[in-house]
Amino acid sequence: MIRLARASDLPLLGELERAAGEPFRDLGMVAVADDEPFSMAQLRPYQADGRCWVVDVSGVVAGYLLADVVDGNGHVEQVSVLPAFARRGLGRRLIETAASWAVSRGLPALTLTTFRDMPWNAPYYARLGFRELAESSWGPSLRAIREHEAALGLDRWPRLAMIR
Ligand SMILES: CC(C)(COP(=O)(O)OP(=O)(O)OC[C@H]1O[C@@H](n2cnc3c(N)ncnc32)[C@H](O)[C@@H]1OP(=O)(O)O)[C@@H](O)C(=O)NCCC(=O)NCCS
Repeated sequence: MIRLARASDLPLLGELERAAGEPFRDLGMVAVADDEPFSMAQLRPYQADGRCWVVDVSGVVAGYLLADVVDGNGHVEQVSVLPAFARRGLGRRLIETAASWAVSRGLPALTLTTFRDMPWNAPYYARLGFRELAESSWGPSLRAIREHEAALGLDRWPRLAMIR
C-alpha cells in the first residue's frame, strides 16, 4: 500500500536509503553508497507538505519517495526501495504516485536526475516513460541540482536529467 508518510515513519527513512544504496557499492560506486541520506530536518518539510510517500508492505516501510517542485515541474528528489523488496513494481508505483501528485497540482511534467548506466536508473526510467532532458532545456533550479550533485562527486559516473 502506498500512503503519505507519517511523522513516525521519518526515522526509518535514513536506514532505508542507505540499504537501497548498497547495490552501488557492489559496482565500486562507493561515493554513491556512502552519500548521506536525508536528515530528519530535511525530511520533515516533505512530510508536512504531503510530498513524502512510503510503501507499506504489511507494516514494513519498504520504500519511499520525495517530490519537489523544480522549475515549475514536479521532480522526484529521491526514490528508494529496500533491496529485499526490489523488482516487485514498488518503485514504479511510487513514481506513478508522484506523477498523479504532479497532475493534481497542475504541474505539466515530472523530472528527475539519475545515473545513465545503472540498469535500475536511466534505462528503468526510460521504460516508465521518461526521456533525457537536454542540458539546454534545464531551468535554473534543475541546473543548480546538477551542480550540487557534481560538487558531491556523483558525476564521476555519467548522470543525466530526465522528463516525462
Ligand atoms: C530505483 C529503485 C527505487 C527501483 O525500485 P523497485 O521497486 O525495484 O522498482 P521496480 O520493481 O518498479 O522495477 C525495477 C527495475 O529496475 C531494474 N533493476 C532493478 N535492479 C536491478 C538489477 N540488480 N539488475 C538489473 N536491473 C535491475 C529492472 O529493470 C527492474 O525491472 P524488472 O524487475 O521488471 O526487470 C530501487 O532500485 C532503488 O532503491 N535503487 C537504489 C536507489 C536509487 O538508485 N534511487 C534512484 C536514484 S536516481
